[in-house]
Amino acid sequence: MKKSNILKASPKSILKAAKILKSGGVVAFPTETVYGLGANAFNSEAVAKIFEIKERPNFDPLIVHVSKKNQLSLIAESIPKKVKKLIDKFWPGPLTIILKKKKKLPDIVTGGLDTVAVRMPSSKIALELIKKSGCPIAAPSANKFSRVSPVRASHVVNQLGRGPDLIIDGGKTIHGVESTIIAFEKGVFYLLRPGAIGLEEIEEKTGFKVKVKKTGKLQAPGQLKKHYAPKANLSIINGGEKIDANSAYIAFKKRPYCKCKVVKILSPKGDLKEAAANLFDFFHFIERSKIKKIYIEKVPHIGLGLAINDRIMRAATKK
Ligand code: TXA
Ligand code: MG
Repeated sequence: MKKSNILKASPKSILKAAKILKSGGVVAFPTETVYGLGANAFNSEAVAKIFEIKERPNFDPLIVHVSKKNQLSLIAESIPKKVKKLIDKFWPGPLTIILKKKKKLPDIVTGGLDTVAVRMPSSKIALELIKKSGCPIAAPSANKFSRVSPVRASHVVNQLGRGPDLIIDGGKTIHGVESTIIAFEKGVFYLLRPGAIGLEEIEEKTGFKVKVKKTGKLQAPGQLKKHYAPKANLSIINGGEKIDANSAYIAFKKRPYCKCKVVKILSPKGDLKEAAANLFDFFHFIERSKIKKIYIEKVPHIGLGLAINDRIMRAATKK
């Protein structure tokens, strides 16, 4: 039995975590989006442990996290000019870009694809950890396969228990939804996963149009229809339905007229940033209350609303 594997974030615990990563271990750590489960991207055996702990049935490609832009040359073949501009505007931050992979990056990281997903997180804890470990860190979200991503260290403990060698507790994450994933093909940017940075912001800051592709091979592999699912049955409110009093209700901004056991408001101010930061946290909270049915309202479909509605729809998918 391993000793307690959770430590509050501090220079000492980050150094300890970095040593574990260096020697082929697996560490859960906070980023500005959700908690990640990381291993040295160049150590195949360490990366394999991530899949084992998450119980991912197949090897979906992982995001490689860097602490400096110049680490990119270790994992990606070349960086097109337009991609460089995008990175310069949004890194460090919750933007993941798909690039052609370097051959020496192990295939297990990219699920056999010849491309790699990379991001430089803005979380100080994540940046320091990557820097001190001295290697790029492959890290998916630190949840069990198809379940809700963790936004607090306690969510990681509840799902992964003693799986990781160490869990760094950095409190609740800021954004609460995962990074936005963008691909670049033949001079065109495509959105593969809506996330913490809205498309409008990307277009505003870079002047580049980002195309939304719904089908075809460009979709992010591993983005299953059913994903981010809490254990309770989740129904999206369409209006007019009868609400079961033993249920939980997650509203966008207005308190609903219902006598549910738990009522949660994503953002009383109607702020999508606040709503995103609360969504997974509410799912985890309701999971602990053992309620079997959750009703949820969709949010306005603009900016961050795309990412929030995407997670709500996947969580509500039955199969
Ligand atoms: O905010 C985030 O991105 C968090 C934190 C920990 O950084 N990470 C995260 O990782 O959400 P994960 O594994 O839960 O989701 C990564 C997704 C995969 O499901 C896959 O769809 C996509 O990234 N992906 C990875 N490599 C790809 C590639 N080469 N081409 C297309 N999509 C890729
Ligand atoms: Mg995930």
